[in-house]
Amino acid sequence: MTASGIAYGIGVGPGDPELITLKALRVLRRVSVVAYPAPPEGPSLARRIAAPHLIPAQVEIAMRMPLDVRQFPSPTAYDKAARAIGAELKQGRDVAILCEGDPFLYGSFQYLYARLAKKWPVKVIPGVSSIMAAAAMAGWPLAAKSDTLTVLPATLPAEELSARLSHCDSAAILKLGRHFEKARVALRTLGLEKHSLYVERASMENARALPLAEVTAESVPYFSLILMRRPGASAS
Ligand SMILES: C[S@@+](CC[C@H](N)C(=O)[O-])C[C@H]1O[C@@H](n2cnc3c(N)ncnc32)[C@H](O)[C@@H]1O
Repeated sequence: MTASGIAYGIGVGPGDPELITLKALRVLRRVSVVAYPAPPEGPSLARRIAAPHLIPAQVEIAMRMPLDVRQFPSPTAYDKAARAIGAELKQGRDVAILCEGDPFLYGSFQYLYARLAKKWPVKVIPGVSSIMAAAAMAGWPLAAKSDTLTVLPATLPAEELSARLSHCDSAAILKLGRHFEKARVALRTLGLEKHSLYVERASMENARALPLAEVTAESVPYFSLILMRRPGASAS
């Protein structure tokens, strides 16, 4: 009987193909199958990040599903992807599942992990998250000494966002999209807008960072976040 393959959840980092770990690179170069999330149409960002490291002979599985903050993929999309990956594992082939940033930080990989790990060996290789890339790019220390750093999805209700922002020294707000203005108003109301920085496409070629007050809400892409550091925080 053929031994089953191993599924690897690989964090490919936030955009720059050089922000991938040596371990991820080693595994990427030796697996025979590569799977990645992709929008219903068009290219996959995770694949684009890993592209310089892929090998032409590798079989590719594009897991097509909605990837923006407005729509959540249906469980059947993950069931289908898990079945396709499981079929490869059953044949003894190792599968790399590419994840933008880190797989376990808001990564859709988690839904696959939940399905695959019940049946197959799964290993996770961490990646550089967008938060770290944005902070590095902008020269924005995140936390020092006893500072608290809070990671928030902008999809939270406004009151919840405000309550959490009022209790941290430093914050990273992800998943902006159409929730951008809600997050900005929450920060403004707490007097924190001027202590916040907006970063889009961190580490990618068209990256930019600007004071939160200068952002045009309509132009906010999916790959963007806000960093906030309260005056008086140790990291500054
Ligand atoms: C589904 S979450 C995935 C986070 C990812 N796993 C990570 O470790 O950064 C997607 C959100 O991460 C943030 N994000 C991911 N990559 C980014 C980048 N290069 N620049 C800015 N924000 C990014 C955005 O807030 C986006 O809406």
